[in-house]
Amino acid sequence: MGPGALSELLKDISCAASENLLVGIDTSDDACVYKLSGELACVQTVDFFPPVVDDPYMYGQIAAANALSDVFAMGGSPAFALNIACFPDDLPGDAIREILRGGNDKVLEAGAVIAGGHTIADPVPKYGLCVTGFIHPDKVWTNAGAKPGDVLILTKPLGSGITATAFKQGIITPEQFAPTIAVMATLNKGAGDAIAAGGASACTDVTGFGLIGHAIEMADASGVTIELFADELPLLPEALSLSERGIIPGGLCRNREYFAEKVRIAEGVPPALQNILFDPQTSGGLLAAVAEPYPGACIVGRVLPKEDVSIDIVKEGQK
Ligand code: CO
Ligand code: CO
Ligand code: CO
Repeated sequence: MGPGALSELLKDISCAASENLLVGIDTSDDACVYKLSGELACVQTVDFFPPVVDDPYMYGQIAAANALSDVFAMGGSPAFALNIACFPDDLPGDAIREILRGGNDKVLEAGAVIAGGHTIADPVPKYGLCVTGFIHPDKVWTNAGAKPGDVLILTKPLGSGITATAFKQGIITPEQFAPTIAVMATLNKGAGDAIAAGGASACTDVTGFGLIGHAIEMADASGVTIELFADELPLLPEALSLSERGIIPGGLCRNREYFAEKVRIAEGVPPALQNILFDPQTSGGLLAAVAEPYPGACIVGRVLPKEDVSIDIVKEGQK
């Protein structure tokens, strides 16, 4: 669901607090964190969606990589996962097996195991995972820790919503869409390990609300303004040229409507590039605020003291 619709539905429901619930529903974080002892906390998340690619094995991998990502985004290590699946009665058994095999392979690659699941019949297929991981309670990366002086790094290129829309409409070839599939299926484990080596003040992953939406959650939770460098953003091949031709997903427009008032965009940032900042991502990269970026990190912005907007988009970064 879009960000506006979801917060409207949740606003009258008050979830009880627990002293062990270190990260709960009210902070727009990627996963919840529940303290088990002074040294150990449990990180848990759930994510599932309809097919984003035609190949069932790739779809399974992407859905699993996406679900696992929320544990990495909190700084945790996934331990086990449950399948959540909805399959139409007429979906061939081979396709179902390939989806589940793709999910299983990604879970193994993440160092975790599938422990069970639940499947129902549904006309629209859906697949994903409920993932449980572990973390030291003092080493949780929430949205709330970004500090002025930190730089912002992003670990995957942007534009998967735009390229997926173009592929669905037959505007780009399978060869042109292949880099997007590879990026969506890539685990955020390596990125999380690289960030952990230098430490992070705040971290999230970039998914349905786009780079802007997730950066706003971080900026607002941290009480800072985030400056994004439009010319430094890593982009998937074809994403910018497709955006120039007006090929954009509906979710991009919803994100722009909802988040626009918290964003200032400098003159000279081309509209096609602005679109990409609002593009909903499937299984996007980690966005982290760090004091010291790891070697080779892609720096896309910096953290400033709180200004009148949450996000300030400038053309070039001040190096
Ligand atoms: Co997330
Ligand atoms: Co999620
Ligand atoms: Co986080």
